[in-house]
Amino acid sequence: MTAVGIDLGTTYSAVAAVDSSGQPVLLAGADGDPVTPSVVCFDGETPIVGRAARVAAARSPHECVELVKRHIGEPSWRFETALGTAYTAEQISALILRKLARDAGAALGRPVREAVITVPAYFDDARRRATADAGRIAGLDVLRVLNEPTAAALAFGYASGRDETLLVYDLGGGTFDVTMVRVTGGVCEVLATDGDRNLGGFDFDNALMLHVAERIRAAGGPDPLDGDTAEAALRDHCEQAKRSLSALPEATVAIGSGGHVYTVDVTRPTFEELTAGLLRRTEEIVRDVLEAAGVRPGAVLLVGGSSRMPMVAAMAERVTGVRADRSVHPDQAVALGAAVQAAALSRSGPRATREPVAVLDVTSQSLGIAVRSASTGSEENSVVIPRNTPIPCQAGRRYRTLAENQREILVEVTEGDDTDLRYVTIVGSARIAIPPRPESVTIDVVMSYDEDGMIGVDVVESATGDPLGDFEIDRRANLDAREVDRMREALRTLT
Ligand SMILES: Nc1ncnc2c1ncn2[C@@H]1O[C@H](COP(=O)(O)OP(=O)(O)OP(=O)(O)O)[C@@H](O)[C@H]1O
Ligand SMILES: [Mg+2]
Repeated sequence: MTAVGIDLGTTYSAVAAVDSSGQPVLLAGADGDPVTPSVVCFDGETPIVGRAARVAAARSPHECVELVKRHIGEPSWRFETALGTAYTAEQISALILRKLARDAGAALGRPVREAVITVPAYFDDARRRATADAGRIAGLDVLRVLNEPTAAALAFGYASGRDETLLVYDLGGGTFDVTMVRVTGGVCEVLATDGDRNLGGFDFDNALMLHVAERIRAAGGPDPLDGDTAEAALRDHCEQAKRSLSALPEATVAIGSGGHVYTVDVTRPTFEELTAGLLRRTEEIVRDVLEAAGVRPGAVLLVGGSSRMPMVAAMAERVTGVRADRSVHPDQAVALGAAVQAAALSRSGPRATREPVAVLDVTSQSLGIAVRSASTGSEENSVVIPRNTPIPCQAGRRYRTLAENQREILVEVTEGDDTDLRYVTIVGSARIAIPPRPESVTIDVVMSYDEDGMIGVDVVESATGDPLGDFEIDRRANLDAREVDRMREALRTLT
């Protein structure tokens, strides 16, 4: 049995494992490709995953699911097959994970049971849980859900054996993260992290698609955005052109319709102009993270397929003042680092030769409680543990009960930065009985947060130090354990 590292991407996924010599290596999929498209199609009720699904998606988009990672952890999201079976995002992701694990098992010559699965650093807890659940539904023992930039930094630290403060810029297919990581003697410490869940190569494709569609219409052609099949074909061609433009100064998009072929030439400067706003959004996040970390990076690590666009390296180098490191492959870094962590956590299989001692992460979301403001009288969010606090951590804040002789307080735990409760998520709550006092009581709310995403809440009477109550939030799981078991059994019957 071997533990693998899985980079479960929005558009592409990759698997790696530590080989018998102690080196992390990427495992090719059954098709021989180093990465596997994260696409699932249904032929009747038979799921098809990977390259074949990607081809099918261009022909019959309605039977296919792409970009499911954007929906993981959303309780009401469903994909319905033509025959009417509904799948949750966890189940669709499980189909991808099962394919990856099976292919990895075939490449290794032994079954894969344990995995570390990566997620974007700013994924909230519902999404992390849902990702772990997807692994369990796929029949895997999920050793850890690891942050993608941390994994990339582990791969870098591992490959270079060098201590460094890194800015990890990860622009993938559907998501964007920036993280400052310090690697010292095998300890990987996250200093600050931020990102955008809805920004990736897909959006660069969209920008090019709009431009090409407009040109084709202007040339008297049909609207290539009219109809799902035409749109899927246009997307395919534009994505190819975008990739070409990373290497060449010019690319051509050719769209056939009604016996006529319409061609649109696109130069790299034109493409860069069309997508300048998207690049600027990533630049702003880079600047925020640099400021939050408060240190200059010694190197910039570019990760994710979209970081191959030359304008990305140019921008990152301009903003940070350091050169981009190219020692780790942008498509492989996350999976390789996850494999190093998997080997360290697994009880079986080969060990990595230079083992990471520890991974010190930070909170990607602020945690707090809902309170009534004394000044305005309205309910608002009070942050107790700010974003980017190193994990594990503990912090407390002092509050006052609202009314005299109050016998109970409702503690609602929030996730998010905003003062306005409408823009944060309530991740759990508890009613805590308090001894009645003639005057309003001062209480301390102490929150803790550990490596596995458990939030602990302790409520203490400030004057006496008496504990009034405590509770733990096993951060809102989408599915309960029985449901995961049921889905795992259901998946087994699907070949
Ligand atoms: N040479 C290239 N030039 C420009 N873009 C590229 C190139 N190669 C791949 N891409 C883009 O990279 C994206 C896929 O990157 P990657 O595999 O890192 O994403 P992912 O891991 O699926 O997504 P995420 O990390 O957002 O979950 C796609 O949008 C693809 O078009
Ligand atoms: Mg990725």
